[in-house]
Amino acid sequence: MDLINVFDYEALARERIDISSWVYYACGADDEVTLRANRSAFERIKLRPRVLVDVSQIDLTTTVLGMSLPMPIFIAPTALQGLAHPKGECEMARGAALAGTLLVVSTSASRSLEEVAAAAGGPLWFQLYITTRPTAQRLVERAEAAGYQGLVLTVDTPRWGNKERAARYPLSRSIRKANFENESEGDLPDPSCTWEIIPWLRSLTRLPLILKGILTGEDAQRACEHGVDAIIVSNHGGRQLDSVPATIEVLPEIVEAVAGRCEVYLDGGIRRGTDILKALALGARAVLVGRPPLWGLAVNGAQGVADVLAMLRDELEQAMALAGCPHLTSIDRSLVRLPHVP
Ligand SMILES: Cc1cc2nc3c(=O)[nH]c(=O)nc-3n(C[C@H](O)[C@H](O)[C@H](O)COP(=O)(O)O)c2cc1C
Repeated sequence: MDLINVFDYEALARERIDISSWVYYACGADDEVTLRANRSAFERIKLRPRVLVDVSQIDLTTTVLGMSLPMPIFIAPTALQGLAHPKGECEMARGAALAGTLLVVSTSASRSLEEVAAAAGGPLWFQLYITTRPTAQRLVERAEAAGYQGLVLTVDTPRWGNKERAARYPLSRSIRKANFENESEGDLPDPSCTWEIIPWLRSLTRLPLILKGILTGEDAQRACEHGVDAIIVSNHGGRQLDSVPATIEVLPEIVEAVAGRCEVYLDGGIRRGTDILKALALGARAVLVGRPPLWGLAVNGAQGVADVLAMLRDELEQAMALAGCPHLTSIDRSLVRLPHVP
């Protein structure tokens, strides 16, 4: 089969990995309302292209927190990549490097954060779950020592979401979370964690701090007051609280609340270049993709990851040309028409 878009990778990945791993990657929480909304919301937003603009050169280069990237697309943290490829996160890191982009490595990785850093040829951020303070402190110190350049604190998981579909297909016990000496250490998030975790993390590390899982203007405001370096608008790919809106729907509210005080990125349902164009038009500086690189990894290892990212980059470039946007700075709010809310 010719692989011409990321959905082709999805279909092939499904054939290549076992059913329990597939369901674990694909599922959302409860009735998967939010999982579906992440896609359908993009489809409802329409583009307003401008014509007779010189688009003979399209420039996709950007920066995130001062780091140069060849495109405004990077890889979201996803747990247990060993289910998609024997080398797991190490192979994903090689794929990110081939694509020249940033990889966010999960606390719940199936390879240790040091192994991933040793395999990586490009920049890494470390995604942190707070289980206990001593465990978190140790992870932050290890990530900093291993050369990670940013700390992504995921804040939408006071408990794990209720992934019903996955509960019917238990994962094989052979894959484990490699950052912990004993498995139970990494298992339960600390439900008592509050905003005072941020000054505590700041006291531990000089790494830039990015909050992942913000869905309201109120919390975006609060994050800015706590001096975070960036926000990732995310609903965890529909895997935490079901019935929250699609991320693209809440992006405008968050961009407005932030008012330029920190960078804003978005993830959730990005599958097309036009999705990325819409997110940038509504104020995201960059987007992250979670499942698509897992599909690439399952189908063809590092090269598959790089191919999936190249598809998204090429589609974004095409969409920018057809919309009359030669630079990322030419993309603004006037490029989109939001759905009419009755
Ligand atoms: C299989 C899977 C595992 C995930 N594991 C983590 C994780 O360990 N930490 C985290 O912050 N987010 C995790 N996420 C959420 C992703 O970082 C991201 O928010 C989401 O996948 C984006 O949506 P998309 O898959 O539609 O691109 C996971 C998502 C999936 C699909």
